[in-house]
Amino acid sequence: MTVSKESNASAAQLVFAIIDRYEPAVTAELHRALDGKTNPSYTLMRYHFGWEDESGRSIEARKGKLLRPALCLLACEALGGDWQEALPAAAALELLHNFTLIHDDVEDASEQRHGRKTIWSVWGEAQAINTATLLRLSGLGHEPDRVLKSVQMLDAATLLLCEGQHRDLASTNTHRLSTQDYLDMIEGKTAALLATSCGLGAMLGGATEEEVDAMSDFGRCTGLAFQIQDDVLGIWGDAVETGKPASDDLIAGKQSYPVVFGLAHCEGSQRDKLVELLAQETRDESDVAAARTILDDLGVREESERKALEYSDAAIASLDKLGLQTKWRNELARIATFAAQRSA
Ligand code: IPE
Ligand code: IPE
Ligand code: MG
Ligand code: MG
Repeated sequence: MTVSKESNASAAQLVFAIIDRYEPAVTAELHRALDGKTNPSYTLMRYHFGWEDESGRSIEARKGKLLRPALCLLACEALGGDWQEALPAAAALELLHNFTLIHDDVEDASEQRHGRKTIWSVWGEAQAINTATLLRLSGLGHEPDRVLKSVQMLDAATLLLCEGQHRDLASTNTHRLSTQDYLDMIEGKTAALLATSCGLGAMLGGATEEEVDAMSDFGRCTGLAFQIQDDVLGIWGDAVETGKPASDDLIAGKQSYPVVFGLAHCEGSQRDKLVELLAQETRDESDVAAARTILDDLGVREESERKALEYSDAAIASLDKLGLQTKWRNELARIATFAAQRSA
């Protein structure tokens, strides 16, 4: 167990090193989109990105992982493109991602992200919704047909994301989700944007339609693995590492993979107890601990981790259809495995 934790940690370090190659350029592109703007919605965004405090003063705070822009730029490079020319797309993906996070925290009533208070809990809900306008900022420096295609891809991902988020909210506290319903939900809320990050990068790198499809499928499967592991961290994660409280998903009644699988595989009095705990209108920390114990007894954590790895393996199988140079293939594969085994 300790050995595998250590090897996970060093695998994560290698992934962060890949992301770090692109980080300064991505951050500069994001600053270009958000700095110097006086409308309060940009103030909120700069706070959310961890650049400023509530009063607009510059700070050094914990940031997001920048996984989606890194995937986009890596996919572009892997297909023979110049990653610098895909930077506006990478920034647009990160803006869209953060726009969904801000809304997600309103929808989930989450008070913490990146170990800081979420936007709505500082400024109130109405202001958080306004940041939607930021999506208009993303300018793409390619030929018109590619720019149009990029806009279409981002637009399609946004729609799928909204559908997925709708499924998530509609199923919260229902405790009747099938595994297929759950997968449909995360295809939308998470996998769609990772698929688009990879597909868009490949497209801007000059890939053929088949290559774009294989790269998108790689991102899609990576996204499924990423969300299932997010669900594991939402029950068993370390709040210091994730920057999000560990009991939130169970308190809120989220239909995460562990809950869906647990409900489908327990019987008798154990099932009665789990249903009773989950069916209450709200749950406190002792209810959460009791539910976690039942899920532990059922081996749900191991099963969830296995399922996440199944998707990262599927991602790598799609990747291997592309016949990429070993360096790019291995870096992308590393990210897929990280998605399934990450602790932050
Ligand atoms: C959080 O995504 C939302 C999910 C899809 C689970 P990330 O974990 O990539 O968030 P940041 O960008 O690092 O904050
Ligand atoms: C992830 O939602 C998907 C989006 C943010 C669109 P979650 O609600 O599962 O993610 P966290 O745990 O708040 O980051
Ligand atoms: Mg949510
Ligand atoms: Mg959430």
